[in-house]
Amino acid sequence: MTAIDIAALKASRRPGHALPRPFYTEPAIYEHDIRDYWNRSWIWVGHESQVPEPGDYFTFDYGPESLIIARDRDGGLGAFQNVCRHRGSRVCLEKSGNARVFSCPYHAWTYELTGHLRRAREMPEGFDPAEHGLLAAHLRSVEGLIFVCTAKTPPDIDSGLAQIRPLIAPFDLGATKIAHSATYDVPANWKLAVENYMECYHCGPAHLEFARSHSIKDPAHMTAGLVQALQARSRAAGLPEGEVLRNDAGAATMFCKRYPLFEGYSSGSKTGAPLAPLLGRLAAFDGGATDLQIGILNNFLIYADHMVGYRFIPTALQTTRIEVVWFVRDDAVAGEDYDLADLTWLWHVTSLDDERIIRHNQEGVNSHHFVPGPLSDMEWGISAFYDDYLSVSAP
Ligand code: FES
Ligand code: FE
Repeated sequence: MTAIDIAALKASRRPGHALPRPFYTEPAIYEHDIRDYWNRSWIWVGHESQVPEPGDYFTFDYGPESLIIARDRDGGLGAFQNVCRHRGSRVCLEKSGNARVFSCPYHAWTYELTGHLRRAREMPEGFDPAEHGLLAAHLRSVEGLIFVCTAKTPPDIDSGLAQIRPLIAPFDLGATKIAHSATYDVPANWKLAVENYMECYHCGPAHLEFARSHSIKDPAHMTAGLVQALQARSRAAGLPEGEVLRNDAGAATMFCKRYPLFEGYSSGSKTGAPLAPLLGRLAAFDGGATDLQIGILNNFLIYADHMVGYRFIPTALQTTRIEVVWFVRDDAVAGEDYDLADLTWLWHVTSLDDERIIRHNQEGVNSHHFVPGPLSDMEWGISAFYDDYLSVSAP
């Protein structure tokens, strides 16, 4: 088998076109994707409400990687590689829980919640526990949303966050909780799942329910009148005006823009009716939805009464776990303040659509007759993803 020249393959991509077939079919590219792209990108791993107490932890896995996110005794949050510094076993086998220490199941090396090695039995003289703590990753908490980057030098995220924070502050996302999360396993390369989320070219043809309420499905529907009416209502509801679009080299991509739902829709619901109590400090339903991207892999949609988070987690070359997470304000009570089936209806049916179209996309791309075609003007988000992805080189 000939080795893949990743740099040459990247250079061979025709600008304005989809990526060539090997990007979705070659094991060497998948290895590159995890090692050089995912491991150097900011990844949304969870929310602070998952780890409220000292000792609370959860793990987050992608590809062959696993991270432990833990709250230490002083209330600090840390992220660590879930790889023992002895002979490499997974240290933490649970998805979540509360622990005093992390003890490796193999030979019982024991780590503090801060990742420091507390104890290793029968080690030779000169062994220094201080040099054998769990490897730490960079971590940022943004309004309760936890982002992790395992690169030595992560892409700049702080300057973009400084711009985005005031726009999302009124939602008070730090005071939300997870109402529900669902996974949709799709037999496709993770890039096809990300690409699908990056464009709404498919929303009209593929998402009947979504297209009924969301003007973003077609630029022709997002009229000046609809946008101005939204802006007036958003101001009245207490949301600052403005949007952010940053796609700078060496920095995390940032996008934040509120767009109108169609008249009569307060939220992403079947009937247009509200689904849950207003988020944060909002004074009214404005009939808008904020598309928020913090790093290109991490996407959120914020309605006036709930937020939906999306991630597209590689599990193998052609398998991806789509994870959809619904947030409501933390004092909302299921069954009283919101109905879980109503809350999750839209993005459940929409995710089932996405699972289907992404699967068929991979099937076609697997064909030796696949020739990457030109992107539509409505697929500018895919170009932004490609710019970011193609800029990362193999070592
Ligand atoms: Fe963890 Fe040996 S591999 S203690
Ligand atoms: Fe979709």
